[in-house]
Amino acid sequence: MEYSRSAVSLTPSATLQLCAKARELSCEGRDIISLSAGQPDFPTPAPIAEAGVDAIRKGKTGYTASTGIPELKEAVAAQYSERRNVHWLPSNVLVGCGAKHNLANLTRAAVNPGDKVLLPRPFWVSYPEMVKASGGIPVFPEKRINGSEIRKAAGEGAVGVFLNYPSNPTGFVPSESFLKEIADAIAETDMWVISDDIYEDLAYLDSGVPHILDFHPSLKERTAVVSGVSKTYAMTGWRIGYSLACIEWTRLAGILQAHSTSNPCSISQWAALTAIQGKAKTEKEEMHESFHIRRDLICELLAGVDGLEFKKPDGAFYVFPRLLNDPQKADTNRFCSELLSDEGVAVIPGSAFGAEGYIRISFAASADDIREGIHRLGKFLRRRLNT
Ligand SMILES: Cc1ncc(COP(=O)(O)O)c(C=O)c1O
Repeated sequence: MEYSRSAVSLTPSATLQLCAKARELSCEGRDIISLSAGQPDFPTPAPIAEAGVDAIRKGKTGYTASTGIPELKEAVAAQYSERRNVHWLPSNVLVGCGAKHNLANLTRAAVNPGDKVLLPRPFWVSYPEMVKASGGIPVFPEKRINGSEIRKAAGEGAVGVFLNYPSNPTGFVPSESFLKEIADAIAETDMWVISDDIYEDLAYLDSGVPHILDFHPSLKERTAVVSGVSKTYAMTGWRIGYSLACIEWTRLAGILQAHSTSNPCSISQWAALTAIQGKAKTEKEEMHESFHIRRDLICELLAGVDGLEFKKPDGAFYVFPRLLNDPQKADTNRFCSELLSDEGVAVIPGSAFGAEGYIRISFAASADDIREGIHRLGKFLRRRLNT
């Protein structure tokens, strides 16, 4: 049998592979410290979980509208209209099976075979594969993304761009001037934008996270804002994401969804509605505070480790240090697999994010695991530098 060329071109998720290897070693009885997780290590807050149980008890267990229940779409439209200071209606909202699902459907709805799509580096692992799965061609700026890189890509035929702030893997939160330059450049082109805002509520600066729509509200007509409840409310397994885009883009992505998964889980949609209505505000703030404390802890510990250079992340729950002198700094896949087998510490190779020479360390872990994990990483690096 000959398989689909676009399917064959996809690379499996390095993150999932490494997590699977760590789980396998842990099952064999090895003492594994996982600093690889892309999800909060907290249970879903009780009021949200209760709303799910209540939905089951009340029999809200049948198919829903394939694009989501009207109550959730209304709540999302209202919340994001206020947050971004633009006007969205429920018809601009698509509720998907996790933000990843929205990203995939919006990409498919926007990309034609051969279309070039600009992906600033480092990028989240799934973006290039989503573009390729739609028949598109991912293109990467030579340098750090800025206005001229956007203009250059548009001049070379790129039709769209993905933005992701706070970023996975760096935790980078742009300054207003940085993002304004990008927004200005995009506004001069015809490019569409997918703005992956999944970590928008996990930022540690009082000034918050700026958005391209703050500078050019008219970009709303060709920007899809994607977010969801996974990271903010510790709901990764419930699989609810949502997007806000123009009616046609939303309609097309919704048709793709209707013919593939149909509606996201009905129970999870009711639970997500409770989250968005603010019924777990205290728990949300407590989790945020806890990530903030761990961010400070991990940065303090990493500052004492020789052989690494890193920027303090202002959002998400990742640090992305560069390996300075390690013999495997040009092969972080190998570095990470040796770190896992020698010291039992799981982190993700930068190569998965288009940034060879870096590693992604998650601080969505207990303070004890962070301390022990960074201690072992330091030991591992010291040993290699001394041999
Ligand atoms: C940048 C980014 N976007 C999207 C997602 C997917 O989120 P969800 O679990 O809601 O599908 C993730 C999850 O790791 C992510 O890191």
